[in-house]
Amino acid sequence: MIRIGVLVSGSGSNLQSILDACESGAIDGEVSVVISNVSGAFALERARKKGVATRVVPHGNYPDRAHFDAELKARLDAHRVELVVLAGFMRVLTPEFLRSFPGRVMNIHPALLPSFPGLGVRQKAIDHGVRFSGCTVHFVDEGVDTGPIIIQAVVPVYSDDTEDELKERILRQEHQIYPKAIQLFAQGRLEVVGRKVFIRDLGKDDSLCLVNPRLDT
Ligand code: GRF
Repeated sequence: MIRIGVLVSGSGSNLQSILDACESGAIDGEVSVVISNVSGAFALERARKKGVATRVVPHGNYPDRAHFDAELKARLDAHRVELVVLAGFMRVLTPEFLRSFPGRVMNIHPALLPSFPGLGVRQKAIDHGVRFSGCTVHFVDEGVDTGPIIIQAVVPVYSDDTEDELKERILRQEHQIYPKAIQLFAQGRLEVVGRKVFIRDLGKDDSLCLVNPRLDT
């Protein structure tokens, strides 16, 4: 059972999927603490409902990122956290923080990296006219959305999609792949070599293919 610390800033729908997966046994682990940099984040409510410890660490109370991150680390250490999961956490972590959890910080991003890193990426995908987008769970390195990729899910993008429509379509997949990535970690099946993640006991499926619009359209 791994001890998971989740960092959040907002609604926490991904946190919810992780809490539910821990409860159902789909993740061999438990969420030991949920830390938010925003006091009113709904994610805190979701954690409390499950009886999980919550902490608020407002970034504005600290003179710089180093002090803020040191406080985060102290809180995570107090709960003996082994895996740090970023779930809608809107701060960039310092290299010092990442060095204290080597290969043990994950993030989810609502696009198919390395396309569309950063913010506002759903609208960017629609505006670019891509036929597919999706979501990516990756290990966090010192760049923004640049770390080794663990799992991705693909969804279609339609020319007349609103940002909200695409957001919802992608979120449904986020809630599937984040718990799966965490479980792969919990099972010790992930090995990072350079910028590639190898997953132990993974078969190849050459028939896996998506076309949008469908060929029978
Ligand atoms: C998700 O879209 C995730 O991809 C991004 O932040 C959003 C968090 O949503 N990193 P929620 O707070 O989990 O509902």
